Amino acid sequence: MTDEFLWWRDGIIYQIYPRSFMDANDDGIGDLKGIISRLDYLENLGIDAIWLSPIFPSPDVDFGYDVANYKDIDPKFGTMADFSQLIEEAKRRKIHIILDLVLNHTSDQHPWFLESNKSKDNPYYDWYLWQDPKPNGDPPNNWQAIFGGSAWEYDPDLGQYYYHMFYKEQPDLNWRNPDIRQEMLDVFRFWLDKGVDGFRLDVFNAYFKDPEFKDNPPKFGIRAFDRQEHIHDVSQPEMMPLLKDIRDILDQYDQTYVVGETFLADTERTANYCGNDKLHAAFNFKFAENRWHPKRFLTSLTEWYQSLSVNAWPNNFLSNHDMTRTASRYCFGEDDRRAKVAAAMLLTVKGTPFMYYGEEIGMRDIPIRKKSDIKDPIGKTFWPLFKGRDGCRSPMQWNDEENAGFSIIEPWLPVHSNFNERNVESQTADPDSILNFVKNIIRIRKNEPALQRGDFNPAITDPGHLLAFTRTLGADKIIVILNFSSRELTYQLPDGDWVSLFDNQTTENKLLKINPYQVHILKLKD
Ligand code: GLC
Ligand code: CA
Repeated sequence: MTDEFLWWRDGIIYQIYPRSFMDANDDGIGDLKGIISRLDYLENLGIDAIWLSPIFPSPDVDFGYDVANYKDIDPKFGTMADFSQLIEEAKRRKIHIILDLVLNHTSDQHPWFLESNKSKDNPYYDWYLWQDPKPNGDPPNNWQAIFGGSAWEYDPDLGQYYYHMFYKEQPDLNWRNPDIRQEMLDVFRFWLDKGVDGFRLDVFNAYFKDPEFKDNPPKFGIRAFDRQEHIHDVSQPEMMPLLKDIRDILDQYDQTYVVGETFLADTERTANYCGNDKLHAAFNFKFAENRWHPKRFLTSLTEWYQSLSVNAWPNNFLSNHDMTRTASRYCFGEDDRRAKVAAAMLLTVKGTPFMYYGEEIGMRDIPIRKKSDIKDPIGKTFWPLFKGRDGCRSPMQWNDEENAGFSIIEPWLPVHSNFNERNVESQTADPDSILNFVKNIIRIRKNEPALQRGDFNPAITDPGHLLAFTRTLGADKIIVILNFSSRELTYQLPDGDWVSLFDNQTTENKLLKINPYQVHILKLKD
């Protein structure tokens, strides 16, 4: 890999959930023009790429993750011309665009599915996974949908069941059909030709299922989905050659990137999908699932780095559109100190950082109080055990005006009630805000190649409350020390003179005092 700045390795990727970022035409739903209007903000924040959650036409049963056309823009988000403008305006600011491809399943309103369920003679019949009922009428096997119930939905007209891992409105495609393969590989080319720089692949390791549809073996668990070993419905070996085909297409374009969302996979399996002839990267959920303890974060990072092959580059994330926000998981009330430590960790450990919109201002999940308020269908299914994913999808908090400056009309999900204080405008003015803290770390990271692509080594053997590590590149050596606790601690710096990258002060005293939740980033003086 190059010694020059490489956007997807050295830069920062920022995930936008388009419905909730910025509404330019005042219908309560975010859109492309809204994103364009906030590109200056993103440039100033210092990010290098945007991952857009799906923007394709969708009936929105799963808010864009049920696609009805892979080669168009949903009118609620704008037009193809708006998209081209977004690409152009982003490029001008050296911001790359990553699209979210949901190729495991389509919407049940996709023309392919509308054809497929017409008859067994239809040319599209075999594009989905149709199976006969068991002699007693039961579904073909014991596979469960992760969104609840059997994964098989009966179609009385056809007299067969179709398979869906998610909602029944999201029928899974038959990836063993060569027509699907061709069609989908063409989707990559279509968007690459429009100037897109990369893709995030939704649940890619679920594309192939066991060709004989064997039952999954039982295991202990609470929900029916968890009471079986998912060995036949995900992670089939056929994925590997397909990844190579995808990578071959991407490699025909300059500096492209593909990152996969591995589904039901541990660190090792996730790592196995990354490298030459495979994906550039995949999401390691272990890191984000950690409780607030430096040792846990360090262990999951070490495992991640060790599992990846030498030609793969790690990536890290703490938040996304499917999980409780970082600040809601780790902070107490509106106290941002832990969120700052978490952000500093994400931005300085080895691996491309992925930030989720609003993470930079410490946005919290909105509370879900009533079942009838829920938009995400799984929240209704599993209420009150699990309230769905609306919490982390609330509108971006821009200022203290009505609806936090997101829209002049009532947004599709409520704005968090803390928006009067917690918003971009007020945090920009406050030198101690998490936003200015994050910007500062990003600025430091931008100036120091060692923090981007340097080697990672733990600098403390038994992390009690401190996470300390070095990043080294050539002669440059940087040490990062993060205090995870509310206690004042000390840290014995290694030999040499260390300059703080926050204030350029040299530390002569080797015993460093570390305030509660303080972050130190120091560089060895040469
Ligand atoms: C992925 C997406 C999630 C979606 C699911 C089905 O896990 O991140 O939002 O519901 O796939 O497409
Ligand atoms: Ca809109």
